[in-house]
Amino acid sequence: MEYFKNFINGEWKDSKSGKYTENRNPANWKDDLIGYFPASTTEDVEEAIKAAKEALKKWRLVPAPKRGDVLKVVGDIMLERKDEISHEMTREMGKVFAETKGDTQEGIDTAYYAASEGRRLFGINAPSELPNKLNLSFRVPIGVAGIITPWNFPMAIPTWKIFPALVCGNTVVFKPAELTPKTANTFVKIVDEAMHIVLGKDYIPGVINIIHGSGKVVGETIINSKDIDLISFTGSTLVGKRINEVGGKDLKRISLELGGKNAQIVMDDANLELALDAVLWGAFGTTGQRCTATSRLILHKDIHDKFLDMLVERVNKLKLGYGNDKGVDVGPCVCESQRETVNDYVQIALKEDKATLIAGGDYAKDGELAKGWFYKPTIFKDVTPDMRIAKEEVFGPVLAVLKCSSLEEGVEILNGTEYGLSSSIFTNNVNDAFKAVRDIQAGITYINGATIGAEAHMPFGGVKATGNGHREGGWTVYEFYTEWKAVYIDYSGKLQRAQIDNY
Ligand code: UN1
Repeated sequence: MEYFKNFINGEWKDSKSGKYTENRNPANWKDDLIGYFPASTTEDVEEAIKAAKEALKKWRLVPAPKRGDVLKVVGDIMLERKDEISHEMTREMGKVFAETKGDTQEGIDTAYYAASEGRRLFGINAPSELPNKLNLSFRVPIGVAGIITPWNFPMAIPTWKIFPALVCGNTVVFKPAELTPKTANTFVKIVDEAMHIVLGKDYIPGVINIIHGSGKVVGETIINSKDIDLISFTGSTLVGKRINEVGGKDLKRISLELGGKNAQIVMDDANLELALDAVLWGAFGTTGQRCTATSRLILHKDIHDKFLDMLVERVNKLKLGYGNDKGVDVGPCVCESQRETVNDYVQIALKEDKATLIAGGDYAKDGELAKGWFYKPTIFKDVTPDMRIAKEEVFGPVLAVLKCSSLEEGVEILNGTEYGLSSSIFTNNVNDAFKAVRDIQAGITYINGATIGAEAHMPFGGVKATGNGHREGGWTVYEFYTEWKAVYIDYSGKLQRAQIDNY
């Protein structure tokens, strides 16, 4: 059985703790042990931070296009190894192979975008108010980035954060989710391989470091360190608030991507077949374990009953199983405790909310499914906006169905949670579509599309309790990983006093 390591200062190293945690296949928990990963200590993290701080001195001076070249090679290697990486990812966290391939592809897209950004990172020039004087402003790196990522997109989300961090000239200490350490190690190996290929004898150790272990030890050490200058985190709202509180005290720059309670509205004039495909994909793809998952369906009253009949028929045909097997639609929950959370919410919906169960509502344990953390795709109807199942994020295959009588009411229900990440409306009425775009409070809105599937070159993030205002993806993420420097060049040969000599 393989014992995996941390990567610090250009070397794969055991943790000083000598302790390990197991990594297992969530579809075949007892029989498929993937390997052991270090349960690292504060000392391990501090060593990584020190290495990243040292590496910063040289990495920030590597020309940005050259830093971009490293990411071009990273993208090439990922593309070449796409199937292997994706099979490994499915084994580690359960979502089906087509989706892990999508996850890897999102990483490849992000790599090529970052590679080309190395040749942009545009600054802005402005005229001076004085003669014979030039004003420039350009982006500079910030420092050492602490990157803390979740298990649901084990490749894509680290790339969203680490590639822009690197191309902007920052160095990285990476703490991946404990449930997906293998994909994270594969990722770091590829980045390091590309560093060696592109930099050759000028290789700089410590530009990227990975430390495995718990949030309590590794995460806390990162967020408390005076030598970490910025933190990017995707995960729960509870942890995000803690990071903001601790990191905020030291004025760290912090980007938070937190919970969601995304809704799809279906109006009476919508293409119902299309809306049906979308809600099945949005609610049960990735076993509902996406920040962008559709967890509420808001149906116009005139199509409510008909649409639910169509939906229940289709949902019961979804095939559960090991995501690397052909023909499987939905994988397991990522771990036992996640499945328990799902079941707890189902009990809340039944007993506390008193919603009506129309599909699923139980563990899936037939045959081979008994080996993994499977849960039946679940749907509740008669849900009202005040119920917990309508307000709280489940992060599993559970859909709450609400009813509306107009566009205005649908949008009001959609906006009625503390979150605001993704949203969708199905309508063939162009006026309603534009009104929805205007009035929906969310970072992302789809017209006639599912709530999942944001593209890597577009701004990604949410409003309200979903985050703290930053955006990942596209050009917007580069605002987070750089600071602006303003430069004034006076070639008049005399002392010119702004705001005084010219007015
Ligand atoms: C997430 O669930 O945290 O838009 C990310 C999507 C994917 C990314 C999801 N591209 O659903």
